[in-house]
Amino acid sequence: MSRLQIHDVSVRYPGMNGGETVTALSDINFTIEPGEFVVALGASGCGKTTLLNLMAGFIQPSDGYLTLGQSGIAGLPRVACGLDLDDQITGPGKDRGVVFQKHALLPWLNVLDNTAFGLKLQGFSLKERNERAAEFLQLVGLQDFHKHPVYQLSGGMQQRVGIARALTNDPQMLLLDEPLGALDALTREVLQELLLDVWKQTQKMMFFITHSVEEALFMASRLIIMSPRPGRITHEFSLNFNQIFLECRDARKVKSLPEFIAMREQVLSIIHGDEAEGGLH
Ligand SMILES: Nc1ncnc2c1ncn2[C@@H]1O[C@H](COP(=O)(O)OP(=O)(O)OP(=O)(O)O)[C@@H](O)[C@H]1O
Ligand SMILES: [Mg+2]
Repeated sequence: MSRLQIHDVSVRYPGMNGGETVTALSDINFTIEPGEFVVALGASGCGKTTLLNLMAGFIQPSDGYLTLGQSGIAGLPRVACGLDLDDQITGPGKDRGVVFQKHALLPWLNVLDNTAFGLKLQGFSLKERNERAAEFLQLVGLQDFHKHPVYQLSGGMQQRVGIARALTNDPQMLLLDEPLGALDALTREVLQELLLDVWKQTQKMMFFITHSVEEALFMASRLIIMSPRPGRITHEFSLNFNQIFLECRDARKVKSLPEFIAMREQVLSIIHGDEAEGGLH
């Protein structure tokens, strides 16, 4: 069981064409606990993708550091654990699976081979990788589409393949950057429910970025709201609408609960506050 910790992290990008340095993130301290579903919401340019890229190990912080491991779990102080350095995120790793807005599948491979591709690179036998890929294709409801070329699939099905592929390494956490943003409203709702089922079954930590307030409230066990220039986490809410859905299986009912509607108004007013200050593009 692991947790992800972000310690005093800032990210500065060099300015374009000799322009001013961009402080994309400033003084971020944040922990994702085992099994948490964290959703990040915020104005365009507030550093959500930068934060995800740090967690994925695609970029390194200008200040501070990130860890993924057992440090601090069960009440042990970080230093006593002695795991901090071992756990530091210094690059991409199979303990983190990433799902992008655009599925980034390989068009010349079928569904099964796309899902198993990472395992092939790691040297798993054909039998092992097909078995593992089949397990996760079943989880995302694509058990009957193994041999289909991915370019023949709908956008929603392609995203299901992306999710299955990210799960094949059995990562500690999934990092999802607006994974449902390009889908039509109906498909989007179906995949929201699918992701909650995947979360429930696998108990993985999730870090999920969206621009939809409704989606954020529906999916999150913890919601963070960020504001730009420099990117910071300004608000945090613990939520349980996802648990209510997993018990009642009625998304429309959850999204029309008075508590849900009140929370949506509160979050919208926070985001529009940013907009009034010129934060939103
Ligand atoms: N490689 C880069 N070089 C320079 N500046 C960058 C780079 N990547 C991001 N930025 C800047 O850093 C800030 C944060 O960008 P980021 O992509 O993390 O925001 P975001 O919250 O994901 O935005 P969006 O909602 O539009 O996806 C923005 O001002 C952006 O222009
Ligand atoms: Mg982004």
